[in-house]
Amino acid sequence: MADIGLVGLGVMGANLALNMAEKGYSVAVYNRTTEKTDAFIANAGSLAANLVPCKTLTGLAETVRPPRPIVIMVKAGEAVDEQAEVLAAHFSAGDILIDAGNANFRDTRRRVATYAARGIDFLGVGVSGGEEGARHGPSVMAGGKKEAWDRVADIFTAISAKFHGEPCAARVGPEGAGHFVKTIHNGIEYADMQMIAEVYGIMRDGLAMTAPEMAAVFAEWNDGPLKSYLIEISAKVLEVVDPLTGRPLVEDILDTAGQKGTGRWSAMEAQDLGVPATVIEAAVAARSLSARKTERVAGEALFGASDKALKGALGDKEQTLRILEEALLAGKIAAYAQGFDVMARASETWNWDLPLGTIARIWRAGCIIRSAFLDDIASSYTLMGTISNLMMVEPFTGMLRSSNRSLRGVVAAAALKGIAVPALSSALAYFDLSRTARSTADLTQAQRDFFGAHGFERIGAPGIVAHGPWAMSAG
Ligand code: 6PG
Repeated sequence: MADIGLVGLGVMGANLALNMAEKGYSVAVYNRTTEKTDAFIANAGSLAANLVPCKTLTGLAETVRPPRPIVIMVKAGEAVDEQAEVLAAHFSAGDILIDAGNANFRDTRRRVATYAARGIDFLGVGVSGGEEGARHGPSVMAGGKKEAWDRVADIFTAISAKFHGEPCAARVGPEGAGHFVKTIHNGIEYADMQMIAEVYGIMRDGLAMTAPEMAAVFAEWNDGPLKSYLIEISAKVLEVVDPLTGRPLVEDILDTAGQKGTGRWSAMEAQDLGVPATVIEAAVAARSLSARKTERVAGEALFGASDKALKGALGDKEQTLRILEEALLAGKIAAYAQGFDVMARASETWNWDLPLGTIARIWRAGCIIRSAFLDDIASSYTLMGTISNLMMVEPFTGMLRSSNRSLRGVVAAAALKGIAVPALSSALAYFDLSRTARSTADLTQAQRDFFGAHGFERIGAPGIVAHGPWAMSAG
């Protein structure tokens, strides 16, 4: 009998199954179209010995040794409910449904409750790392009952990425916590990607650099504090020459970004929790604006394109590149501070007790946002236990002290040149607002009270002033 079952042999499912098979587990696999299952087995080479193809979900349920863990790796949404329902009909107490897709954590919470009422455990497991990660070591963020996780932890730990030997797999909390953490991971991923793209825009349009030149810059940055998978692949992407044209491939890629929803959910949940996650929000909005190609083209015709050449606004080329590197680091600190803040608030709100230090640790390898920087975050959590805002603790405070000027310089120069840097600008505004003792919300409060009698607090006086004497100023 098989150790585990897996439903859905798309890119992620197929690679997860191969990864499990390679680690010595026997995996029963099922796909809605049988041809896909057959092709998968035919291409699995020696790993086929550990794979059991099943033609029906019933067959799959019968093939897995009870208590059955079955992974569902299908498109998030209704497909998960459909497959889970069929499987559940064959399940008995103690069996575990595992949704390893990018589900909305609110759906996961509902599913956990629905199946708990029927004696079935449901785990919502966030898996990051794309195709390569799924095959050779993803980062795994699990949510659900501890006893259910304990029964499958060995398998997920075995297939996960390792950071200096430490597995990047953990149960981060109950019910939808795993999918929530994966959602915030993706929100941070959007922010990271957008800020990298903005810096690329400054190099391309402000400094007229070629793709190979920019590739070399990213490659160099990958040896410094920005060392990360996303910087590494940015260098690699920019190096690729299109065999069709002989030009850098990136120059021929349509400039409209797709999005499947996790970034947007991340921003929506942040708003819902009342946490400012402005860099993530800006990154999501930038993707939406990028998709409006026709409007952008019309806009450029209407208002004209700005002269984007920086012309030494940030010093010579070498200085400018150093400033850009520092600006990116400052922006990154703000984005991660926001992402961790959202998780901290979610943890409080839903009593999840999210282990933020562990989350930083399991993001150090395997996942898309893996980086040297996450090791710094993990160390800070180990040292401090809890952190209210990453920007306010060392080593990040020190990093920001020296890099915020560069972020300011970049945002200011970009603004004057008409180069859009929405995520970097949001990071700067977040930083500035976060260190402004006296904000401008006094006027906002006065306005609210003027038109809505919402009351306000007076500095140094306890209680609420029910209504200000605004009528005195009336005409
Ligand atoms: C990961 C990725 C992965 C996927 C996202 C991207 O952590 O492995 O985030 O989950 O690439 O679905 O989604 P978008 O299509 O929204 O960019």
